[in-house]
Amino acid sequence: MKHDDLVDLIRDGVAGERGGRWADLGAGEGAFTRALADLLGPEASIVAVDRDASALRGLGGNIETRVADFTRPLDLHDLDGVLMANSLHFVRDKQPVLESVRRMITPGGRLIVVEYGADRGNPWVPYPFVYARWEKIAAQAGFRKTRLLKTVPSRWLGSMYSAVSET
Ligand SMILES: C[S@@+](CC[C@H](N)C(=O)[O-])C[C@H]1O[C@@H](n2cnc3c(N)ncnc32)[C@H](O)[C@@H]1O
Repeated sequence: MKHDDLVDLIRDGVAGERGGRWADLGAGEGAFTRALADLLGPEASIVAVDRDASALRGLGGNIETRVADFTRPLDLHDLDGVLMANSLHFVRDKQPVLESVRRMITPGGRLIVVEYGADRGNPWVPYPFVYARWEKIAAQAGFRKTRLLKTVPSRWLGSMYSAVSET
């Protein structure tokens, strides 16, 4: 996907907000981190977290990088938002991870999730979840006002969607 398409996928989740402190969990090479940075502007501070140090190597500027496993305590708190793009599908037991993500975010802050619209996994996308399931998973972890932002066709697993929830 082109940069502008990634920006469009998460744009309504950011809802015109500028600045603030956000984290991108499972940032990889930072394609969505850069999209988030464009939307939030230069005054934002963004921490890109990935367990793969080499993936994060190309990031810099106002994006801080941290090599860490997001299923373990991260010492991140008072965030205005968290982005998880194609990373939550690596986690089988999502509840404890999502509860700890919720605690990282200040009340009224946001979680933006980008995922494949599939319920059956494969070796590369082991535990995907369609949007209807995400609504329930997010509510169980204490997130509110979950809504679908956008769905786009994907050559992998048919489609990709973005959704936003509030704390
Ligand atoms: C498919 S890539 C997605 C990268 C990026 N978010 C994107 O959409 O372009 C998934 C990334 O999540 C990272 N990841 C998966 N599980 C993780 C975990 N428990 N802690 C930290 N990073 C993780 C992987 O290392 C990989 O870089």
